[in-house]
Amino acid sequence: MESTRLSILALFLLVVLGSSSAKVEEENPEFWRSQAKKTLQSALDRKLNTNVAKNILFFLGDGMGITTYTAARILKGQLQNQSGEETVMTMDTFPNVGLAKTYSVDFQIPDSAATATAYLCGVKTNLNVIGLSGAARNGICKTQKGNEVTSILKWAKDAGKSVGIVTSTRVQHATPATTYAHSASRSWYSDADMPASAKADGCTDISSQLLKNTDINVIIGGGRKYMTPQGTKDPEYPRDYASRGNRKDGRNLITEWQNSKIGKVAHYVWNKTEFDAVDPENTDYLMALFEPGDLRFEEERDPMMDPSIVETTEKAIRILQKNPKGFFLLVEGGRIDQAHHEGRAYMALHETVAFDNAIAKGLELTKEAETLTIVMADHSHPLTFNGFPFRGQNILGKSPLWATDMKPYTILMYGNGPGHKIVNGKRPDLRNVTTDGKDYHQLAAVPLQSTTHSGEDVAVLARGPMAHLFQGVQEQSYIAHAMGYAACVGADLRHCQDPALHTTIDPNNAARASSALLSSLLSALLALKVLI
Ligand SMILES: *[C@@H]1O[C@H](CO)[C@@H](O)[C@H](O)[C@H]1NC(C)=O
Ligand SMILES: *[C@@H]1O[C@H](CO)[C@@H](O)[C@H](O)[C@H]1NC(C)=O
Ligand SMILES: *[C@@H]1O[C@H](CO)[C@@H](O)[C@H](O)[C@H]1NC(C)=O
Ligand SMILES: [Zn+2]
Repeated sequence: MESTRLSILALFLLVVLGSSSAKVEEENPEFWRSQAKKTLQSALDRKLNTNVAKNILFFLGDGMGITTYTAARILKGQLQNQSGEETVMTMDTFPNVGLAKTYSVDFQIPDSAATATAYLCGVKTNLNVIGLSGAARNGICKTQKGNEVTSILKWAKDAGKSVGIVTSTRVQHATPATTYAHSASRSWYSDADMPASAKADGCTDISSQLLKNTDINVIIGGGRKYMTPQGTKDPEYPRDYASRGNRKDGRNLITEWQNSKIGKVAHYVWNKTEFDAVDPENTDYLMALFEPGDLRFEEERDPMMDPSIVETTEKAIRILQKNPKGFFLLVEGGRIDQAHHEGRAYMALHETVAFDNAIAKGLELTKEAETLTIVMADHSHPLTFNGFPFRGQNILGKSPLWATDMKPYTILMYGNGPGHKIVNGKRPDLRNVTTDGKDYHQLAAVPLQSTTHSGEDVAVLARGPMAHLFQGVQEQSYIAHAMGYAACVGADLRHCQDPALHTTIDPNNAARASSALLSSLLSALLALKVLI
């Protein structure tokens, strides 16, 4: 009772203090009314775009749950000296929003392999499984045969489009791998990562499938150590043993890839100088592997050696968009998830801001009329945004209202993870602790070395042809089918075969049609009158 009264008093004081940070123009009701009026008008003016999508630009924020999205928006504004809450990210401008249910066939909370199989191949499956249906079992090679499911990237390639993958992780990581591979285990990056029994049963590693399955025009990310024979020195870190090639079969997949492209303009690059020299106007194929494993976090990137996700997205689009039949490109902000696993909100949010900048570049280089752009997350993380922080307060800071133990707590915290610390039987005193550094672990309720994922729905944002299909609360496996329908690739070709079969009714067209009918009736009556 006492503590309730205390916290109500504290909240009152907070509101009194907080009101000073409000913006003057926001005190005027006209500010909100005129803003809403503009928003309403743009919603009323919006026309349904029922074009066949020539291009699909698919942005996947790994682990970018809605809390991450909101917090990154605030950070993005604060990096530009704005208060942050009112900042508009590029992804905020997408007109259509839906939710996707992320559970896998076997787990309530999924991983990136099972979710990628859902949204890229259109079929839900089991945890850790890539490009195989739920009849396949995690890690059991014998269950692969006959259970392969193909991805939207393959459907697009089969339809004559150019295709590409851009990621900030290794290109063999779960999300990009699902565009081209079928693997009972997401961790079979190279043959050295496979048990002997899986090899004996005829399964192959993900890197070798990168060369063999779909002919991919643009491959950008990390992961070169899985491509070269065991012991091959890395060009960037020649003295680092962990960075050396790890293939046991002696194959050099980079050389094999180059040899397979003879007669085409194909470039393999591993650093920014060579990457910058690639002329997209005169390039058919690009393989760029900037690190032995995953790329570095954007905040720790060496801009002399590695390009940003904005630069890689731009290069990929410029190469792919030369195809008159269009393209499919997956761009993955792959390390949002990894930063969250480490409990580092700073890193996760900065990765999300970089990802949003890549989305802006994508919109700048394409036309809304012909490009379906999707932004979604595969799954969420147990990040919570709590307390009563003031308007404009540092999103990586602490709640001004202290807890009942009279100690502050971080505005962002995790349900579980490395941020759980006990000092002398008590939670840490953060009064003198800076919580907005890149290595800080936000508080966590339960100790775990690596934060888990979380199971709530994720947002799906859409813009361009047939964007209105991405609405409501849907199974995540629906996404691949809706993208395929929009672009007229894959199994359902109704959208380009027979326009009369369009199941969608354009209210604007319908209105136009009925007014046309009315005016022809009127002119018929007038004609009659003339005759009379
Ligand atoms: C934000 O403000 C700081 C300090 O006044 C200044 O150094 C910085 O350049 C500003 N940044 C932007 C993006 O305006
Ligand atoms: C970039 O790669 C090329 C080709 O391997 C190499 O010759 C060059 O020295 C590299 N640049 C840097 C800065 O390491
Ligand atoms: C915080 O820092 C101040 C000034 O350095 C010091 O007086 C105070 O004891 C510190 N408090 C804690 C909880 O460490
Ligand atoms: Zn993860």
